[in-house]
Amino acid sequence: MSILLLLFLCLSLPYALICGLSSPNQIPKHYVIYMGATNPSSNEINGDIAQAAAAELAHLQLLSTIIPSQESERISIIHNYKHAFRGFSAMLTEDEAHLLSDHSDVISVFPDTMLQLHTTRSWDFIEGKAGRLSRWGLEKHVTSDIIIGILDTGIWPESPSFNDEGIGPIPSRWKGVCLEGSDFKKSNCNRKLIGARYYANEEKTLDSPRDSEGHGTHVASTAAGAPVTNASYFGLARGTARGGAPSARIASYKVCSSEGCYGAAILQGIDDAVNDGVDVISISIGSGTSSEFFEDPIAIGAFHADQNGVVVVCSAGNYGPEPFTVGNTAPWIFTVAASSLDRDFQSTVLLGNGRGLKGSAIFLKLSRSAIHPLVFGKDAAPNSSVALEASKCYPGSLDPKKLAGKIVVCADDEEPLSLRGWKRQPLVEEAKVKGVIFIEKEEGVVPSVTGIFPYVEVGKIAGSQILNYIKSTKKPTATILPTVEISRHKPAPIVAYFSSRGPGELTENILKPDIMAPGVNILAAMVPKIKEAVGKKLSKFSMRSGTSMSCPHVSGAAAFVKSVRRRWTSSMIKSALMTTAKTYDNRRKVLTNSSSHIANPHEAGSGEMNPIKALNPGLVFETTTQDYLQFLCYYGYSQKDIRSVASNTKFKCPEHSNKELISNINYPSISISKLRRNQSKVIQRTVTNVGPSNSAYIAKVQSPKGLVVKVIPDKIVFTKGLKRAPFEVSFFGNKEAASGYNYGSITWFDDRRSVRVVFTVNLD
Ligand SMILES: *[C@@H]1O[C@H](CO)[C@@H](O)[C@H](O)[C@H]1NC(C)=O
Ligand SMILES: *[C@@H]1O[C@H](CO)[C@@H](O)[C@H](O)[C@H]1NC(C)=O
Ligand SMILES: *[C@@H]1O[C@H](CO)[C@@H](O)[C@H](O)[C@H]1NC(C)=O
Ligand SMILES: *[C@@H]1O[C@H](CO)[C@@H](O)[C@H](O)[C@H]1NC(C)=O
Repeated sequence: MSILLLLFLCLSLPYALICGLSSPNQIPKHYVIYMGATNPSSNEINGDIAQAAAAELAHLQLLSTIIPSQESERISIIHNYKHAFRGFSAMLTEDEAHLLSDHSDVISVFPDTMLQLHTTRSWDFIEGKAGRLSRWGLEKHVTSDIIIGILDTGIWPESPSFNDEGIGPIPSRWKGVCLEGSDFKKSNCNRKLIGARYYANEEKTLDSPRDSEGHGTHVASTAAGAPVTNASYFGLARGTARGGAPSARIASYKVCSSEGCYGAAILQGIDDAVNDGVDVISISIGSGTSSEFFEDPIAIGAFHADQNGVVVVCSAGNYGPEPFTVGNTAPWIFTVAASSLDRDFQSTVLLGNGRGLKGSAIFLKLSRSAIHPLVFGKDAAPNSSVALEASKCYPGSLDPKKLAGKIVVCADDEEPLSLRGWKRQPLVEEAKVKGVIFIEKEEGVVPSVTGIFPYVEVGKIAGSQILNYIKSTKKPTATILPTVEISRHKPAPIVAYFSSRGPGELTENILKPDIMAPGVNILAAMVPKIKEAVGKKLSKFSMRSGTSMSCPHVSGAAAFVKSVRRRWTSSMIKSALMTTAKTYDNRRKVLTNSSSHIANPHEAGSGEMNPIKALNPGLVFETTTQDYLQFLCYYGYSQKDIRSVASNTKFKCPEHSNKELISNINYPSISISKLRRNQSKVIQRTVTNVGPSNSAYIAKVQSPKGLVVKVIPDKIVFTKGLKRAPFEVSFFGNKEAASGYNYGSITWFDDRRSVRVVFTVNLD
């Protein structure tokens, strides 16, 4: 009888404690419930408290229909999205989440996952210099009411980069706030830093807009920092540090703690930023895996921000150089890869046999470099069973007694750069080594800032010479010489080794990343609380590397273009920056990657951004809401969900939707995921003339052998009456064409302008 009763209880009360406790699915977790666009009419009365309360009440009612009354304390909303889009977040069990996802008002329900900052984390970080920015000549275009919203780890308001001297009053349209926190006052905001918000997390470690990590401060100052002369990292990278749009305003949205960034908070940050009135949103955050667009907080938030006229710029990720690693790939996102600057930091490893080998390093010299015994990690293993781990210097695999007082050599083979930091610290703290030489599996290494600790990374050629030397002698020794700054380094830019590569995992029919910008050794503002170097004073600036650093360069550039071209939409700004991007390095040769091969569009997108040229692109590709909605149809979303996302009850998906048609949305690059040999495929595009009204353009094609590309028509004459013109591109791979991805470009030329559209075609 008792068994029967129990069973019965389980069936009739699936959420009751008796059954729920036993299953991990029934432990409530934080979920995001996404419900599409806000009703356009309610947008007008955004500030209306009654309206907001009504929406919250409706969400609570929805929750109460699925959460059992015994657990009524869970009928509560953690984040409420109401400005740019509708939805909320709450604690739900897996079953409840599933039930909610079937509700007709709900588009998607997904767990609140933790995303990561896109810097390469080591002890400290790497960063470069604003020298390149000052060459943009931005002084001439000082306009100051563009607002960049930074979603990151918060901000250090006292940094000289956020000084508001010479900046006019806060734009009257600004609706944001400067939230106070435990260590942050309203007076910390000024005419430069006009807004600061933070979003409490479950652990309550987030209670102020202040940055304690450094990432947000660094990114914000790269996008829009005021010029600061004589900035340096303890003398390295000395120069004037400043943002891409030095007179733009900054609004900081702290959605990350030092552990990471919660998706639900990112959505709240975007919702607020749009309502506050930002023009550009900069997000140097992502995850290593791709979620479906409607389950990806950045993709959802960015879609609605774009609908509200905001440019959304995101980092591509640091998961390169393998293909299919690029993140933030929605077509309404501006996705940024990282490149090197023409400045490098090198350190020479002097071997006992007199041989000097160059490596990458950023450490500060405290005392004289001394000669120390040299040991390969593998030879410092306690026993042979951990020899492989020891050769890579994994924590716990080395015998500290065999390391003390020596320089240790570690050889890495596959770890993405972002995972490496954790290996180093135990080495120094536990084993009292005098220095570390890290052998990368390739050339083109990116230095790490390591305070006063001699840490040098070498490529595989120098690495094998070091290992051979160790083998050749009984008592190998070495000296690591101090870091020297190399300016006017060539070639530059090159694609950074770590930069995530296309194609995108979700669809290969949109070419990603879009563009490339500096992301190696970038010098920018730092939280001076962070001790970057033992025995040295605190530094207000530091160097970091990552697509986290390249993203705000493009955010600043987009703000710059917008400040001059007021009426351009987000997609016009993106198109202008893409079609004018540079494809040559400082040797006047085609851009390369870190192993000296020509950089393809899956690595560099359209090329290295060139903001000054983007002001006069001649022609632009406008990617409209209609394009984005069709993209969603082609991708496979239901018409019902798309209508709700678009707040357009009349929208109809094209009759025959399939993923191949994605190639046809009016994007400033072209990608074809599948082309049969001996069959042709025709792609449509439309250009809008933003140059002189009477102009004539001729198309020129650059394509690899065997791939026949024709532009029809190949001449377009614009007149006063003709602003937009369609054209077609046909692709045909004959027997001479190589299988796999073929890369090339189509360029529209008039007398003075060139509009370059890169393409990738995957041939059978
Ligand atoms: C720049 O700063 C350094 C200290 O970091 C100082 O020695 C030097 O005089 C300064 N130079 C100028 C031009 O202000
Ligand atoms: C080898 O050394 C590792 C690391 O100290 C240790 O965990 C492991 O138990 C050792 N194995 C043998 C067979 O001694
Ligand atoms: C550089 O490009 C070549 C040719 O596409 C490729 O084989 C190589 O893996 C790339 N190297 C890096 C580090 O990305
Ligand atoms: C493509 O056409 C060429 C010439 O007509 C022929 O030799 C070749 O076999 C064809 N290839 C395929 C895959 O159909």
